Amino acid sequence: MKNTHMDNVRIIEIPKIIDEQGRGKLSFIEKDVIPFKIKRVYYLYDVPSDAYRGGHAHKKLKQFIIALSGSFEVLLDDGESKQKIMLNKPNKGLLIPTGVWRELDNFSSGAVCLVLASEEYDEEDYIRDYKQFTQV
Ligand code: TYD
Repeated sequence: MKNTHMDNVRIIEIPKIIDEQGRGKLSFIEKDVIPFKIKRVYYLYDVPSDAYRGGHAHKKLKQFIIALSGSFEVLLDDGESKQKIMLNKPNKGLLIPTGVWRELDNFSSGAVCLVLASEEYDEEDYIRDYKQFTQV
């Protein structure tokens, strides 16, 4: 069977340190946790529950998405298959490779979506037209 972009979508567990004195948890991301060098960090917050974000794919950009707080859903589509993933844990992130269309919705109240990105912001890297995406 041919290798698809969706095969490279992965949930990655982020290391978690549980404080022995009951002072909470600490997670960290450094080399080897995600398979790219982080060039940019951004986050979505105050997203209304009926709003959706994303609605694009990327030519070069890889992303790692974490629900730092609350929850939201990510619809992924590589033009051949689709899947929906709920993110609701600060120590589990979603790796989105290149060539995958994404839409984020169903944000819970207070949800914070942290995105680690492999490239700096570049509008030229976006494919915002779904029809064009399926023709690439
Ligand atoms: P966009 O990536 O379309 O948001 P989302 O996919 O989360 O719905 O970006 C929204 C706007 O913010 C757009 O005008 C570009 C701008 N933007 C930046 O200037 N820098 C960034 O790092 C990002 C992610 C977006």
